[in-house]
Amino acid sequence: MFEKRNYCGELNASDEGKQVILSGWVQRKRDLGGIIFVEFRDISGIVQIVCDTKESAEMAELMDNIKSEYCLFISGTVRKRADDAVNTNMQTGEIEIFAEKIQILNSSVLPPIPVESDNTVNEDLRLKYRFIDLRRQDMKDAIIARHKVMQTTRKYLSENRFLEIETPILNKSTPEGARDFLVPSRMNKNMFYALPQSPQLFKQILMVSGFDRYFQIAKCFRDEDLRNDRQPEFTQIDIEMSFLTIDMLIDIMEGLVKEIIKKITGTEIVLPFNRISYDEAMNRFGKDAPDMRFGMELTDCTDIFQQSEFKVFSTALENGGIIKAVVFEDGNKISRKITDELAEFVKIYKAKGLPFVKFRDGKLDAGITKFITEEQQKQLIARLDLKDNEIVFFGSDSENIVNDALGSLRLKLAQDFGLIRNDFNFVWVLDFPLFEYDPEEKRYYSMHHPFTMPRTEDLTLLDNINPENAGQIKAQAYDIVLNGVEIGGGSIRISDTKLQNKIFTLLGISEEEAKEKFSFLLEALKYGAPPHGGIAFGLDRIMMILLNKNSIRDVIPFPKTTRGQCLMSEAPSPVSSQQLDELSIKIK
Ligand code: AMO
Repeated sequence: MFEKRNYCGELNASDEGKQVILSGWVQRKRDLGGIIFVEFRDISGIVQIVCDTKESAEMAELMDNIKSEYCLFISGTVRKRADDAVNTNMQTGEIEIFAEKIQILNSSVLPPIPVESDNTVNEDLRLKYRFIDLRRQDMKDAIIARHKVMQTTRKYLSENRFLEIETPILNKSTPEGARDFLVPSRMNKNMFYALPQSPQLFKQILMVSGFDRYFQIAKCFRDEDLRNDRQPEFTQIDIEMSFLTIDMLIDIMEGLVKEIIKKITGTEIVLPFNRISYDEAMNRFGKDAPDMRFGMELTDCTDIFQQSEFKVFSTALENGGIIKAVVFEDGNKISRKITDELAEFVKIYKAKGLPFVKFRDGKLDAGITKFITEEQQKQLIARLDLKDNEIVFFGSDSENIVNDALGSLRLKLAQDFGLIRNDFNFVWVLDFPLFEYDPEEKRYYSMHHPFTMPRTEDLTLLDNINPENAGQIKAQAYDIVLNGVEIGGGSIRISDTKLQNKIFTLLGISEEEAKEKFSFLLEALKYGAPPHGGIAFGLDRIMMILLNKNSIRDVIPFPKTTRGQCLMSEAPSPVSSQQLDELSIKIK
């Protein structure tokens, strides 16, 4: 009976008079005195079913039993609705199905969350009853869009000679900087697999083996603190290529992104995307993932305040810090209460406070104006090109704190006052520093990962690296940022064992440790490894932004909470003592 099935959402006026067979669920039932209307739903959408129960007692009894979310089989005829009954809000609003036969395939208890509503329901409840939540239209739309993005990706990359190749899930730890999820091995006592943080090492090995263009829609696992754009288990569109330049990679990836955007939104985006260096992004926006859909850029004012009477400024400068400013266009909207709140806000980013001045009638006013000399005022007005009623916020501290605090303030002001264009803004961030120096641990960390190739012109600096000049050694690494969110990142890799060993040494990874952890990669690189590089896109983040969601949980069928739990299956959970015994594990 299901073979000749029709789909609810695909029927329209051209089907008038057609006999159809539908299978799906009751969204809503209304009884208008013997004539029963059912909004009937399947994966494709909703259509209205009409059932006249006046002629048949059997049909009347059946319809009386039917409730929301019952699973039904219906055969009937497509009818055009009367003009005054047309529902323009409904895709199938011009027609209805006059039911001739209805069969209940299964009953349903009352759903704990409504299927009809948008997602204003408490998220924990939605996650616990995900099987109902996924019946809701916006979740269905998200899952269908995700499918389309994966299909588009596979098609585009296959057409560009990429091969889809799987890599293992039970692995040795890969160093992407997060904590590993570990899996004990029963057959190898006291040994553990690590779940892959990414397929990084395997895709490099594939390059050595001659698969010169690889891709995979890969599950990655990272045990890190979770946020709205971070899951412990997430999906990458993972890509690696041999014989490439950064320009080649960017070109191919922009083509992929263009196809994806076209598929999901129907719009043609303009290529190429903007490119900006890491240093410029930090200077102008205070962030390495800048949102460039609005202005309010950060301006360095350190030189203006070299001789400042303002203690906060002079102390920051004495400690080697900097002073930067952000200008907001409408000082009248910023009350005392708001400046107090903003000063609290920047403390999250370790700023100690948020000095400000207003610009009125051609001069500075309020805030810290009294600590600024006339000459400094003149310079400041010119540097910031101040207009009447603008308000200037200052950050003065170490460069990192100032950038972090003012970069975040810039975003907050734009969000709070609706200054962000509704647009897809892509930008490539290039020339990342190779290393980050941790002054507490007195050691270097890879900014991307330890297999990233330094810029050729910076190679000589590696021999006399110190905390001061470390930032000047740039990597052949790149991120792609969409609307201020890092949606992908990658690099050209080191394909030379000697250089790879040198980088390990600088990172404080001993020869033994490197051998123990990645001997197979170091070994492989000796056998004519081709120059190679790649990138990985965060699929969940791309979907989140394309579908305008606040959280990646809304684009993942079965996500975890920010505490790493699946509320539906109740993972993680205790295991039996027998399972632990088999693994020789004792719980502390
Ligand atoms: P990276 O660690 O930058 O690079 O990750 C690539 C992209 O994956 C997404 N992402 C995440 N999405 C959701 N939840 C998470 N916890 C999470 N962590 C990362 C981001 C990020 O840009 N192997 C390298 C890639 C390469 O060099 O080719 C890698 O994994 O969108």
